Amino acid sequence: MDTEISKIMANDEKYLATLNPVDRAIASRFSARAFLKTPVEQSEIEHLLEVAGWAPSGTNMQPWQVYVTSGVVQKNLSDAICKAFFSGEKGHDRGWKYYPDEFFEPYKGRRRACGIGLYQTLGIGKGETEKMKQQRARNYKFFDAPVGMIITIHQDLEVGSWMDLGMFLQNVMVSARGQGLHTCPQAAFSDYHKIIRSHLNIPDDEIVVCGMSLGYGDPDAVVNSFRPEREPVSSYARFIGFEG
Ligand SMILES: Cc1cc2nc3c(=O)[nH]c(=O)nc-3n(C[C@H](O)[C@H](O)[C@H](O)COP(=O)(O)O)c2cc1C
Repeated sequence: MDTEISKIMANDEKYLATLNPVDRAIASRFSARAFLKTPVEQSEIEHLLEVAGWAPSGTNMQPWQVYVTSGVVQKNLSDAICKAFFSGEKGHDRGWKYYPDEFFEPYKGRRRACGIGLYQTLGIGKGETEKMKQQRARNYKFFDAPVGMIITIHQDLEVGSWMDLGMFLQNVMVSARGQGLHTCPQAAFSDYHKIIRSHLNIPDDEIVVCGMSLGYGDPDAVVNSFRPEREPVSSYARFIGFEG
């Protein structure tokens, strides 16, 4: 049962139809990497951020900060990052560490499968580094989404608050589904936090955690058919004391 469900693609309408509305919003979320130009009203974004704000946080500290961009501000930011990215401009770094220096199993294999799966979906073969670079650059265009968000957290907050921020971000993405919207969380943006800071006047004591594209996913874009599989529950949960 576990394995069967985990292998079902989350965009499988039959599978989604078996779920209650909350579960359906969760399971129908995926990282959309191509968006329609259809605009999103500010009031819709405010709504989903308000709903996301119901996320729990240790002692209710609510450590999230969100910079929502659209129009010319978003475009200028994208252009500036793309320029730095393509010219290989030096002096950019993430400013925080997402991954370990050395990947190890089972994470190494999952990460590899994810990368290979994405490129296969796009028809990008092994060694086609220029095409891979172009795909990475798509991040900085917010995958053509009409709204680009930048998420930050105060530098003096600890790992617990980062956990709280993750819950908030998941709420944003799930609430977006409730409005028929799609998202893609993007750590790629933190690599260019210096440019982002100057464009959005982000104070030095905030860490740029990630960006997020928001809009209506393009249903005809092949990249949006990519659904990395999930491990079955039995691989990460132990049930203790349930028998007898
Ligand atoms: C914090 C965070 C940062 C991510 N950064 C990127 C990114 O920079 N670019 C990208 O294309 N996907 C990014 N992703 C998406 C992951 O690759 C994706 O969540 C994972 O492969 C599972 O696929 P799904 O979201 O479609 O279910 C990120 C996800 C998270 C949670």
